[in-house]
Amino acid sequence: MSKLFSPFQLKNLELANRVVIPPMSQYSVGTDGLIGAWHQQHVGRMALSGAGLVIMEAHGVEAEGRISAHDLGMWNDDQAALLKSLLGTVREYSSTPIGIQLNHAGRKAGTNPPWVDAGHSMTDEQGGWPTVAPSAIPYKPGWRVPGILDEAGMARITQAFVDAALRAYAADVDFVELHAANGYLLSQFLSPLSNQRTDDFGGTPENRMRFPLQVARALRDAWPQDRPLGVRFNGSEFAPEGLALEEAVAFSSALHAIGYDYLHVSGGYNIYDQQAPAEQPGYMVNLAGAVKSANPDAVVIAVGLIYEGPQAEAIVQSGKTDLVAVGRGFLDDANWAIHAAIALGDKAPWPSPYDRFGPLGWPTHKVHAAAAD
Ligand code: FNR
Repeated sequence: MSKLFSPFQLKNLELANRVVIPPMSQYSVGTDGLIGAWHQQHVGRMALSGAGLVIMEAHGVEAEGRISAHDLGMWNDDQAALLKSLLGTVREYSSTPIGIQLNHAGRKAGTNPPWVDAGHSMTDEQGGWPTVAPSAIPYKPGWRVPGILDEAGMARITQAFVDAALRAYAADVDFVELHAANGYLLSQFLSPLSNQRTDDFGGTPENRMRFPLQVARALRDAWPQDRPLGVRFNGSEFAPEGLALEEAVAFSSALHAIGYDYLHVSGGYNIYDQQAPAEQPGYMVNLAGAVKSANPDAVVIAVGLIYEGPQAEAIVQSGKTDLVAVGRGFLDDANWAIHAAIALGDKAPWPSPYDRFGPLGWPTHKVHAAAAD
């Protein structure tokens, strides 16, 4: 039996295996942050994929904190009611635990979807809105210049994270993930490049962590202990003078100390001309490994161009991480876990109605197994 497809206990959740589907924004709702037809099929598809855990995409904790006008939201009860209904339906056919990611996009709020105008920040005429950030530095030349977030704004946004998490709990999500990665608001505070404040919230690494940890603590205090609470953050910005790995590790240790149930290590997307080795398989696994070394008893998730079963198996065998997240691999092949398991001579959950015809009774498993040799 492979390690990748062996069960894993995440707090109260029993994962069928160590494969995670990471959050992937779909930019496919109307302007009110409500789940619609696309997410009903998308989430259902991911829940049938054989993965051990599904993390639904970034949900805006307030309307102004959405990445685009087409993001999911968790700032009102109607949004939570639709999520509860969706989860109730999915649970009729899948036991895969499903959580959501909570986000405030900061200076990267109010953009077009990636396939419109290359995801450029929206002008007022296009429906854009004023944004906030630690400093008045736009993400890219030509993008909207954010206003500087003051302490009253920080308090409001902290409360918005808490309120959104409580709504998500009432919607019966299995867990929540705090988004502190990929150049959104909390990640902007952590970075010495996007945070050039001279008050208590900028300058030293301790000061840059102050607001993200304030949010993280408030969320930890509010989120009930009976379900996991995770966090995603950058291990690197792939930019000279950007967030240092030691700073990211110190941040991860602080999060672990305040009781986060998993540490999900991502990277990049805070600096538009970053130089990430993004074509190198498993290019962020060593960042996760550094977090795991500093916090050996924490549950760590690695991500970043992990796309084949034997590769994912080698990564969990290396001890650098407990779980591996596979994003684009699942968009490419919604049965990724099932095929990866076959390539490893193992199995992942397969829906009973399909069972008479596969996966082992169908020739594709031989193709996958041959490709893995
Ligand atoms: C993403 N990613 C992402 N990350 C995140 O924390 N919240 C999000 O909402 C999104 N949205 C998103 C949408 C799409 C379409 C993609 C492809 C990616 C990043 C994602 O979770 C993952 O970290 C990267 O895709 C790298 O993993 P893979 O794809 O190399 O396995």
